[in-house]
Amino acid sequence: MRIIRAKDYEDIGRKTANIIAAQIQLKPDCVLGLATGSSPISTYQNLIRMYESGDLDFSQVRSVNLDEYKGLTPDHDQSYAYFMNENLFKHVNIDHANTNIPSGMAPDGAEEGKRYDELIRSLGGVDLQLLGIGANGHIGFNEPCDEFIKGTHQVTLAESTIKDNARFFESIDDVPRYAYTMGIGSIMSARRVVLVANGVNKAQAVKDCFFGPIKPTSPASILQLHPDFILVADEAALSLVADQL
Ligand code: F6R
Repeated sequence: MRIIRAKDYEDIGRKTANIIAAQIQLKPDCVLGLATGSSPISTYQNLIRMYESGDLDFSQVRSVNLDEYKGLTPDHDQSYAYFMNENLFKHVNIDHANTNIPSGMAPDGAEEGKRYDELIRSLGGVDLQLLGIGANGHIGFNEPCDEFIKGTHQVTLAESTIKDNARFFESIDDVPRYAYTMGIGSIMSARRVVLVANGVNKAQAVKDCFFGPIKPTSPASILQLHPDFILVADEAALSLVADQL
């Protein structure tokens, strides 16, 4: 595990965008694993700026997103398909046909999981997986539980995740209770994993997952075993482990 210390959220965005830009420059048709939520937005804004200044070309990039709420159509303003379009895809020259997100409208989780895992395999696997982390240590929507689930699957969102994400919806009752997520095996198969963590509300998860034991009740802890895992975190997110850096 490598830790890149950033000053603040903006600094995380610049540093992480540089890593992703290097990946695209070295392999223009790379497969990027992408995340939603508030954590990667400053990274996406920096990637958009690099594209606009002519430094980055997304024309051959392929992408697979981590997760999607079950039951939301891609045009729902809280779907992750909508998020990706608004925050990255529509601002760069990525070919929409090369972007992939689990289908929130797929009725059968097992079928959708199989389809998505086969798709990732057919693309040759993920070159660089970008992740955020939940305050409870989740990655994608792999919530704390008693096993690491390998492939894409349906999850019941944890109450704490529903509360955390209610800020994006009109009311907590509008937050979907189920989602589809790439599994821990698919994330661990990515050739490089970059996790961004900012703010003091991530400090406990950073401490538990990256400085504590590896266990499925701290899902991100498995990344300690990944051969090329980079944590990009600000001072606030690292505040509980400052003495161990
Ligand atoms: C989103 C995702 C989630 C988020 C996590 C943190 O695609 O997979 O694991 O990364 O919930 O969310 P934010 O960044 O909003 O704090």
